[in-house]
Amino acid sequence: MMHDIHIKTERLLLRPLHVADAEEVFQWVSDERVTKYMNYTTYTDVEQVREWLASVEKDVSEDYNFGFERSMDGKLIGSGDIRYDAQKGSWGFGYNIRYDCWGMGYATEATKAMMDYARENFHAQKFAASHCEPNIASGNVIKKCGLHFVGYGIFQKLDGSGRMRSMEYEMEDCEWY
Ligand SMILES: CC(C)(COP(=O)(O)OP(=O)(O)OC[C@H]1O[C@@H](n2cnc3c(N)ncnc32)[C@H](O)[C@@H]1OP(=O)(O)O)[C@@H](O)C(=O)NCCC(=O)NCCS
Repeated sequence: MMHDIHIKTERLLLRPLHVADAEEVFQWVSDERVTKYMNYTTYTDVEQVREWLASVEKDVSEDYNFGFERSMDGKLIGSGDIRYDAQKGSWGFGYNIRYDCWGMGYATEATKAMMDYARENFHAQKFAASHCEPNIASGNVIKKCGLHFVGYGIFQKLDGSGRMRSMEYEMEDCEWY
């Protein structure tokens, strides 16, 4: 969704993505190590990224995309989104981080911040997320954000390829009280 939300965390600024970010975003969306378990197919041309970012700038759905900007040097280290799924009645989220920035806790830090923002501003209480079964790192992020495993599902890329088993997680805030 087009928005003007800025969220500051210890090391990051989560901010709207713009067409001007295309070159930086291309660094990870063109990297098969990053895209392997994502639902989009690997980008091969920066122009495709410009088109995607232009569509994000115009998006009117309840899908809030963020660039994860590192405060220390102003560089984008990844992006993610949080979105309301009216069918499930829960908030879902996703993320991808530039390969050379993996393993530093950035995905967890950004996801916790998106969840807290949705709690405080959209009264979000229920969250759901999933990952491809072999994607252990993503499972760790989801669990560190407080969700618990609820069962297996099916993952498929948007173009219909890459079908495999997924692991599904949920969390409802009131379960902690
Ligand atoms: C999944 C992803 C976003 C994680 O980003 P990240 O910033 O490295 O994540 P974090 O550092 O916050 O946490 C990752 C956790 O998984 C662990 N981890 C990383 N790689 C791992 C691996 N191959 N096997 C097991 N654990 C792994 C990390 O040690 C960390 O856990 P810890 O804090 O308990 O040590 C990143 O790997 C990525 O961009 N992958 C490609 C895109 C993707 O798969 N997105 C999710 C789709 S569901």
